[in-house]
Parts: sequence; structure tokens; C-alpha cells
Amino acid sequence: MKKINLFRFPLLFLVLSFSALQAQTSVVISNDVDAPVINRNIYGHFAEHLGRCIYGGLYVGEDSEIPNTDGVRNDLIEALKNLQIPILRWPGGCFADTYHWKDGIGPQEDRPTIVNQWWGGVTEDNSFGTHNFLNLCEVLGAEPYLAANIGSGTVQEFADWIQYVNHSGESPMANLRREYGREKPWGVKYWGVGNEMWGCGGNMTPEYYANLYRQYATFMANWDNETGLYRIASGANVDDYHWTEVIMRDVPHHLIEGVALHSYSFVEWGDKGDAVDFNEAQYFSTMQTALKMEELVTKHSEIMDKYDPKGEIELIVDEWGGWYDVQEGTNPGFLYQQNTMRDAMIAGVSLNIFNNHSKRVKMANLAQTVNVLQAVALTDGAKMILTPTYHVMEMYKVHQDAQLLPVEFDAPEYTFEGESLPAVSISASKDSIGVLHISAVNIDAENENEVEFDLSGFDLDDFNAEILVSETLQDHNTFDDPEKITPSEFKDFKFKKGILKMTLPPFSVVVLESK
Ligand code: AHR
Repeated sequence: MKKINLFRFPLLFLVLSFSALQAQTSVVISNDVDAPVINRNIYGHFAEHLGRCIYGGLYVGEDSEIPNTDGVRNDLIEALKNLQIPILRWPGGCFADTYHWKDGIGPQEDRPTIVNQWWGGVTEDNSFGTHNFLNLCEVLGAEPYLAANIGSGTVQEFADWIQYVNHSGESPMANLRREYGREKPWGVKYWGVGNEMWGCGGNMTPEYYANLYRQYATFMANWDNETGLYRIASGANVDDYHWTEVIMRDVPHHLIEGVALHSYSFVEWGDKGDAVDFNEAQYFSTMQTALKMEELVTKHSEIMDKYDPKGEIELIVDEWGGWYDVQEGTNPGFLYQQNTMRDAMIAGVSLNIFNNHSKRVKMANLAQTVNVLQAVALTDGAKMILTPTYHVMEMYKVHQDAQLLPVEFDAPEYTFEGESLPAVSISASKDSIGVLHISAVNIDAENENEVEFDLSGFDLDDFNAEILVSETLQDHNTFDDPEKITPSEFKDFKFKKGILKMTLPPFSVVVLESK
């Protein structure tokens, strides 16, 4: 290769040196024993009756030619098990406040239909109901998180659902459950008291909802569920801090364990753009909304700190992810979109934010599991592909239940048309056997970034590392090329005398594991 004499091209020399200097970042990782554990539920998922998430996605029916377990496709079960999916939220979303759970139990032929008023107006036959969902969670080894109907349901209906799934003794609902084939209660701990009550859940004011919440929570009997119930109030839309303030102020704290928050990443809400065919300006805007999560969890946490200084009520980000225009030719109400390296960036930075805010953030649920929004898997008949987001979740699963190691650094900037964002995002943890994991993301669309970690306070030999990267931000896996984007070994690092140095390529996610 012909060598360029930089001294003959002073401008080029200046540009190269400047970008190299600009990219040097020093990170301090502290071995703080008081730091919180990263709750595994931060790696949670969300499956709504929406488009092809349940019907035609997870659930293909027992008679399907697609290999399945009680109607749920086996390839997806395996993929989710591999993610060590800790918790799954169901049945919505907006759908939850239209759903009457009794329609989804008992003999299939007796179940009434429901028209999905929020998502495409399609008629569903209620063949996937409470038993199917809770049995699936058992197969996955995941905690179920049921979102109950407050918007168009009743207190009695909600109380009955809890009795149906949790009561082991003689009771009308427990007996009905037995009649429909399930002796043992499932012991469901996590319950959402409605969804987006400020919008599709009933367009309520926070003051009105806080009162309603108190009423519903009063009748949420624990029965003999050993772990107790974990009640989650429908939370704020993005930066509606007043909502969180009112819930924390008006709901007696013995009636609540978690407050939700929903925030999606997009170019512009009214003009979301294509999931694959996007330019750098659109990418930059999407990352601006994704990184806003840092400010959101900080500010919502501050309000919670004010009313709950001991941190007994937790912040539950039970919907997050990228939201674009639906794929051309698909039902606009089905929210089917492809998943590119842009989504890998959203996943990487969001999970780092949640990890680093583990003190208050105890659960997060990616929207949604399959075929909807920022899915980890997409299906087409018998075919299934895993998305870049899946691979990020897989690489990051090592943080589940690990001790957070707080990180401190001044992030280099990713600048685009006069605006800038932190280019590098990092979180770190130590697992139960002392293995250290560092996840680092460089969202810069053009520039690599050099990062140096001082790990002299740790007794480490070396690292193994994986990277998720591709040639273009728009790259994605397809049914014809399902492995275009998969993690590979990352070698561009050096570890010497407690100093770890690495170069993060543009739009890449790296996870290192100490040996
Ligand atoms: O995830 C799609 C929708 O987004 C959910 O149904 C709703 O809660 C949110 O607005």
C-alpha cells in the first residue's frame, strides 16, 4: 500500500490528529460496594395483542405446521430463553384497557371474539388467553406481568383475575381455574393498574387516576401469593413530570410498589420516517430522543426521591424502543417495522442508562417482543430472524442481577449540523462470581472513538470481547440474509497493567468480559 507523507499534506495531518485527540476518553470505573444490583427485570419484554405480536408471531396455534409448544412457536421460545428473558408484560399496551380476561378462558369454541379497536380493527378469537400466557411464562422461566383493564373494566373484574390466577384454596375463581384445567395457581406478582391512563387508558387527569388507583389497589387481594403483589401505577408520558408528582403525592405508599414511564425513540412523532431508508439527520434525531431517557429517568427519579427518600417505590420503564413508519404494504395498525443498526444503538444506550440508574429503575420492557416496533425477532410464516436489537440484548444479558459498577467519564461528542450528543455510552457490572462486564456504545455515525479504562483497582488478567457492528447504519437482517448482523469477536483492545484501551468503531456496541 502506498504510504502518504502527511508532512506534504499539512491540512490532512491536522484533521487526522484533531479527530484522534478528540476521540480520547478516560473512564473511571469504581468498585463501589454500595452501588445497587442491576435488576434482571431491566431486560424485560412486552407482548401486546397488536398486529402480529401474539397472533401469527408468538402464537401460531397448536395445529400449526410450525413446530410449537401449546401453540407458541418453538424457535421463538428458544430465542427468548437464550436471552434469559426475565419478565414479560401482557396483554397491552392500549389493548389492556379493552381486554376482558374472562373472554380468554375456557373451551375455545365458547370464547367470544373481540375487535381490536386500537390496532387495525381486526377481530380476534381470544384463543390466546390467560392460561396460554402464564403457561408460556413458565416455559420461558420468565415472570409474568399482567396489565389489567382499568379504562373499561371494573374493580370486580380485576379482583377476580387476581383470585383466578393466585388463589390456591376454595373460591369461585380458583374453582373455575381448576375446571379449566389448572390446579396450581401461577402466583402472579407483577400487576399493572391500567396503561397510559393519560391517553388510550381513559384520557384521565393524574388526580382522577390517582383516586381510581387507590380504589382498585384496595381490592387487589394478595391471597396466598408468597411473594406478595407488586402493583404498578400507569405512569407518565415522556416528560410529564406532573403526572409522577401527583401519583407519588396522592397514592398512599402502602398501596403501590412501582410507577411506570413510557418513552419511545423516533425522528419526529408526526413524521417518523422509514425504518430502514433513513439519513443521518433522521438518525441523529432518533438518537436525541433515545438519549433523552437519561434526563427522563433522572428527573422522574428526583420527584420520586422527594416523596420516597428511602427508594421503596420503583421506576418501571414498561415501554421503550424505536418507533418508525410501518413497512410499506403492511397494515398501518400493525406497527411492523424492520430493525437496523440504528435500533442496536437505541438498545445499547437505553440499557446502559437503565443499568446506571439501577437505584430507582427496577424494570424496563422493550416494545415489543416480535413483529411489532423494536422487535427482537421477526417472522414470516415458518421463517424467523433475529434482529440487531436481539443481539444487543443477548450481549448485555450478563448484566442481569450483577452489581453495578458506577462509571465516570466525559463523553466525546457526536456532532451533526451544529448539534451534538454524547457519542459514547458505557455501563459496567460485576457478577456473582466476580466477573466484570463492560458494555460500551459509540453512536457516532462517522468517527471511531478511543476509550481508556483505569481498572487498576481490580484484580484482572485480561478480557474477552464481542462487537456488534456493520458497514452501514441502515444494515439489517432479512429472511434471505438472516445473519448479516451478528456479534463477532472484538480484538481492537489492549489490557496492560490495569489499563484497558480500545477503539470503538462508528455505530458499534462492544461488551467485554474479564477472564
Ligand atoms: O407499544 C405500542 C403502544 O404504545 C402501546 O399499546 C401503548 O401503551 C403505547 O402508546
